[in-house]
Formats: sequence, C-alpha cells, structure tokens
Amino acid sequence: MSKSTNGCQSCLHYVFDYETTKTLVVPSLRVGLVFRLAQLVVLLYVVGYVCVVQKAYQETDSVISTVTTKVKGFVFTNTSNMEPRFWDVVDSVIPPQGDHSFFVLTNLVETPDQTQSRCPEFPTPSTICVDDCDCIVGHNDPRGNGVQTGLCENYSTTVKTCEVHSWCPLEIDTKLPERALLAAAENFTVLIKNSITYRKFNFHRRNIRPHVNSSYLKSCEFNRKTNPDCPIFRLKHIVSEAGEDFQEMAVKGGILGILIDWSCDLDWWPGKCYPRYTFSRLDSKDPVNNVSPGYNFRFAKYYKTADGQETRTLIKAYGIRFEVIVFGTAGKFAIVPTIVNLGATLAFLSLVPAITDWFMLMFMRRRELYSRHKTSHLTEEQNAESTSMSTTYGTQ
Ligand SMILES: *[C@@H]1O[C@H](CO)[C@@H](O)[C@H](O)[C@H]1NC(C)=O
Repeated sequence: MSKSTNGCQSCLHYVFDYETTKTLVVPSLRVGLVFRLAQLVVLLYVVGYVCVVQKAYQETDSVISTVTTKVKGFVFTNTSNMEPRFWDVVDSVIPPQGDHSFFVLTNLVETPDQTQSRCPEFPTPSTICVDDCDCIVGHNDPRGNGVQTGLCENYSTTVKTCEVHSWCPLEIDTKLPERALLAAAENFTVLIKNSITYRKFNFHRRNIRPHVNSSYLKSCEFNRKTNPDCPIFRLKHIVSEAGEDFQEMAVKGGILGILIDWSCDLDWWPGKCYPRYTFSRLDSKDPVNNVSPGYNFRFAKYYKTADGQETRTLIKAYGIRFEVIVFGTAGKFAIVPTIVNLGATLAFLSLVPAITDWFMLMFMRRRELYSRHKTSHLTEEQNAESTSMSTTYGTQ
C-alpha cells in the first residue's frame, strides 16, 4: 500500500464506516432495578403530576364575569350627638347602583348647616395670629380650610386665628363616635348576582343555581355548612368569615373582599361547576404602625333655605367597602396540549437508558467488563475472514 492510498483510506473509513447499535444484555439485578426505577419515576411524574394534578392535557380559559349587588336592611339611631334618625339602604349604601363594589356606611361625622361665609381657621402654628398683619389676603394652604380674608379673628376667648372664606362652620372631624353609629348595619344582607362565561368553551353559568327557587331565595342566608348555595350574605357573617369583628371594623372602616372562585374541570364534572366563596380583609390592618387606618370619604347634601341661601350638610363617612372579586380558569381536553405532553413524556423516557448506562459504567463492580462489551470495533481482518468476496477499501 502506498502512503497516499493510506490517507485516503482513513478518510473513506470516516465517511463510509457504518455504526450500528448492538444490544448488550446485562444480567445484573442492580442495573435492572435502576433502569425500572428510573422508568417508574418518569411514569409517576407524567401520570401523577402532569396528568392528574396539572391536567396538562387540557386547554384553559379564564373567566369573564359580571356582578350586581343589592343590599337590604335599615337602622334606627338614637344617640346623644344626633337627632333620632331612621336610615335605610338609600341613605347608607353608596353607590346605589349595586356595582361589584359597594360601600356600607357604619360611622360618620356630620357637620350640618354649612354656608358659604367667613369663619376663623383652626388654631395651628401657621394660622394663629396676633393682629391682621399676620394674615395675608388670598393666601390658601391646601391643608387649611379656606382662602384667608386678611383678618385676625377670635377663635376662642384665648386664641386668635386668621379668618377664612369657606363653608362655615368648619368641620371638626376629631369627634368620631367610639362605637359605630350604624352598628346595626351588621344585620344588613346583600344579594350577589354573578354571571360568568368561559368563551372558549361556550359555557355560561350564574351563581344562583337551577334548583334555587324564588321562595327559597326570599328566606335563605349563606352559610358555608348549611346553606352554601344561597347568594344572600349577612354582612356580619362575611366579616367574621374574614376573621374580623364587624363592630371593631365599623368604627374606622375598611375594605373587605368577597372572592368568588369559578375554577372548573369541564371534562369530568361540568355539572359540578359552581362558585366557591371566600372572604378576606383587603386593606392592611397593621397593629404596630397603624397610621391612617380604615377607610373614609366625604360627601354633602345640599339645600336652599327659604330666603334662597345655599346650605349643605357635610358628612365624613366611615364604613366598609365590599369588593366582589371573581376569578377562575376552566380546562377542557384538547389535542394539541396532549400531543405536546406526550412528546415530552417520550423525551423523558429516552433519557432513562442514558441514566442507567451512566450508573452501570460508574458504580458497578464489574464496570470494566461492561465497558469493554459496550462498544466494540470489528477489525479489518475479522471483517475479511467472514466473507470470501472481500470488498474492503484499498485491497483488491
Ligand atoms: C342583629 O340581629 C341579631 C338577631 O336578630 C340581634 O341579636 C342583634 O342585636 C342585631 N345587631 C344589632 C347591632 O342590632
């Protein structure tokens, strides 16, 4: 053989030698155990976690929903700092429309008979004055109560403050009742109507279930154990399910979530697709740094007196805002996610022999023997021996 044919020969070997897998049977219990165990782990993962827990064979859709609420109840208040008064939901539930979020008035500071006029400011370091020179005409501080008139007036017998143009008398909002004025609002009930759609699956439901008739609806009240289908909730019950005390929360107000979970499996139990209610307080009630707790806002009712002057009653309203939050996803069998997960399963299973090989060649006592048998090369002589019509490259 010449040198040039030698070089060409190795190159031909590189291109045309055929590699084929040979099955090596290893009669070792330990290797066999590792192999079956690895297979079992993969199968458990696929069947148990991917299929049963994650339901990866399904396609999913998230819920689209609409909510209306209607509160019922009334309160009669008779306290020392206010005239006896009857309140129904028109007075104490805001807004009246019955949105997914509604506010129930529980406590208030009322400032009646305010008119557009002039009165001395509250005494603060920047408003206390000695004479008119200390007050600037037209000066307004956003944290104050009005536009200064430039006069220094008696606030009390001992203190003089700058006079302002404002709604007078000014509101004194420090006199919040310690016990909620409308404490009886705990006995109000709310009817929640919720319709949902899963558009991908053309699936519609409402939270008033088909077996609920109108006479049941007139008398029922939600209770997780005895009456889980009733869409009418007592406010006290909602607050206590959220782990709070209504009377305590009513003093300074707060925000409470009514969470409706519509997660459903539409393959197996479409009939069992019904809402699950949970309740939770949404505003933080930090007991350590409880600055500006609760929830409040102001509104006013306007009147005209007989002589045509405009007056208003200012109300600083404290209360509980209820927010109905609807969420959920539905799943249903679909071919594409199924095929994708089948492919992933096969890929995992094809890893199992590699793991077993690694175990066999690394940790077994007879790993040298296995390694020798695992790959073998036919020499050219062996190849020539067995066939009479030799067609090895380069030797004719
Ligand atoms: C709410 O109703 C219950 C039972 O009807 C009554 O005992 C309770 O005093 C009421 N709550 C308030 C604050 O009036």
